[in-house]
Amino acid sequence: MISREVQLKQRPEGMPTVDDFNVVEVSVPEPAENEVTVRNVCMSVDPYMRGRMVDRKSYTPPFQLGETLTGGAIGQVVASRNKGLAEGDYVQSNFGWRETFTAPADQLSSLGTLAAPPSAYLGVLGMPGMTAYVGLLEVGALKDEETVFVSGAAGAVGSIVGQIAKLKKCRVLGSAGSAEKIAWLRDDLNFDYVFDYHDGDLLAHLREGAPQGLDVYFDNVGGDHLEAAIFHMRPFGRIPLCGAISQYNATEPVPGPVNLTMAIGLGLTLQGFIVSHFNHLAAQFRSDMEGWVNSGQIKYRETVYQGVDHAADAFIGLFTGDNTGKMVVNLSEDA
Ligand SMILES: NC(=O)c1ccc[n+]([C@@H]2O[C@H](COP(=O)([O-])OP(=O)(O)OC[C@H]3O[C@@H](n4cnc5c(N)ncnc54)[C@H](OP(=O)(O)O)[C@@H]3O)[C@@H](O)[C@H]2O)c1
Repeated sequence: MISREVQLKQRPEGMPTVDDFNVVEVSVPEPAENEVTVRNVCMSVDPYMRGRMVDRKSYTPPFQLGETLTGGAIGQVVASRNKGLAEGDYVQSNFGWRETFTAPADQLSSLGTLAAPPSAYLGVLGMPGMTAYVGLLEVGALKDEETVFVSGAAGAVGSIVGQIAKLKKCRVLGSAGSAEKIAWLRDDLNFDYVFDYHDGDLLAHLREGAPQGLDVYFDNVGGDHLEAAIFHMRPFGRIPLCGAISQYNATEPVPGPVNLTMAIGLGLTLQGFIVSHFNHLAAQFRSDMEGWVNSGQIKYRETVYQGVDHAADAFIGLFTGDNTGKMVVNLSEDA
């Protein structure tokens, strides 16, 4: 069996381009004892992968040139030599960026009975959804009826952050990069105040949308968004530092917020986190989120690219705002 897979040809400088990637054909071995062969149905591209393309020490090791990339994927078992997994079972793995693979069964998680289409387990019911859930409720310690601002609000994480906050009767502000995204957040997801961050002064928007200030700022973007939010925090406000996508393609060191000392007088908490710090909450997250999705209390969207040949385009699209909701690459031949 042949799998088509994406490898890193060279380390991107600044914004990645398709020339940084190669698609290669690899022969997939038959499963040995306790291994399974999986045909991926869909795979994820995520902003954190940009950091792994740089050769530096981080919380995950760098991708190596000339090796197949890895990342979240949902697939179906097509051959099994493991008692726990049968042909047809859906599994979640870190063997994305490829069509088919053979791996030890203990490196895969069975999804059991799906409560939603498989791709939802890359987004709202997967890593980004859980990031929103733990980042807002555990790190942000959100309380009912507080005022929350989320940047990257129309993305995979941000769109769920805002909706969880609405479930907690909060006033929700969101920023995103286009009129279409703003309309979705306002009209479908019921955010209270939304704005395109390309239009005008961020702080002026925050003052208009939250005259009393912010209790929680969920930071997906960093840079000028973080600085504006610090200026507008209420005393003892919390800032979960989830991501800083405005800086991931920077080629020079990026200055920090000029107003960080305000955190002292206001008693602010700025706390970085990685979703895996909260793996102990995975079952609780899945149960809560499946309930909210199935009852229609949480909605989600996906932007879908077709085929492994377009995985690099999908990845690059994260940095040009190409996606509304979760960016997904469909690898199913039936599409
Ligand atoms: N800490 C964790 O464990 C964890 C886990 C998952 C994700 N994250 C972080 O959470 C953030 C969101 O991730 P995601 O998976 O949900 O991605 P996403 O928001 O679905 O996609 C990325 C979005 O970022 C926005 N963006 C790109 N460049 C930007 C810039 N220069 N300034 C402002 N916005 C920009 C674009 O939307 P616009 O059109 O609005 O610009 C784009 O659609 C990222 O920073 C990511 O690294 C952290």
